[in-house]
Amino acid sequence: MKLLHISDLHFHRDLQNNIAADELLGTISQRYPKHTLIITGDISDDGTPWQFENAFRALESFVGRVFIAPGNHDFGSAGNFYSQERALRFDQMLSNPLRQGGTFTGDTTPVVNFVRDGNDQVMLIALDTNLETEHPFDFACGELGVSQLAALNTILCNPANATYTKVLFFHHHPFIHNDPFMELKDAEELMRTIYGRVDVVLFGHKHVVGEWHGLCRTKLILASDDSPDKDWAKEIDIQGKTITVTPVWIRPGASRPSAPASARASKASASIKSGKEREVNVRDAAARP
Ligand SMILES: [Fe+2]
Ligand SMILES: [Fe+2]
Repeated sequence: MKLLHISDLHFHRDLQNNIAADELLGTISQRYPKHTLIITGDISDDGTPWQFENAFRALESFVGRVFIAPGNHDFGSAGNFYSQERALRFDQMLSNPLRQGGTFTGDTTPVVNFVRDGNDQVMLIALDTNLETEHPFDFACGELGVSQLAALNTILCNPANATYTKVLFFHHHPFIHNDPFMELKDAEELMRTIYGRVDVVLFGHKHVVGEWHGLCRTKLILASDDSPDKDWAKEIDIQGKTITVTPVWIRPGASRPSAPASARASKASASIKSGKEREVNVRDAAARP
């Protein structure tokens, strides 16, 4: 089974500002027609009805193979502050019509989908990492909360789910530390909850790619950049217990650049690294993700 991870589409109201996102999804539709598409949040830029409408139009043809999580820009204007109105709109205009099998607003239950392809059985677990706050110092921070983590723990403990390959995805980057404007406040609690019990973790928010193997006893952890206008996205190939990640070209047109040096396929290893692969803070006030 092949997954394709993209993120941070930031759909706008003005169609001219959506050309790159529309081209990206058109290219994926043609070039990767069987892939399961995972989008890790910031699908819209401000959570307005027009932005969600444009995003839905671009994603409608993927129903059944697209799975989404909300970002801070979906639940707040310019990614700032939580807005229940916008959060409800995300569910009404994206989660429900894109048939996610669950919603993200208010409740604290992960949205779970089971995908089967031959002998491969994959459990897709989407989390809402948006912090429900209007405090100015929280800005673009995230939080899962005690009850969502407890619900996640219950899912991971369920023996009925033991045979599934588990793919966890959400918006906020869990390896940003000591940044009061960007961090996932309960990232350590999340990592403690999933330690050795999840196969793949995917997220966005920082608009910078990252790849970790074996960290927190997780086979593969990927951070996506903001995908529109980018050349590459990550394909995750799940074959039984073997998970391979490969950069795949996502630009329209026939001329294909050579893959970057870091863009070789790699098998997810079960080895455990030191846990020191943490990234330093990124404080780019001009381009808040
Ligand atoms: Fe974000
Ligand atoms: Fe973003």
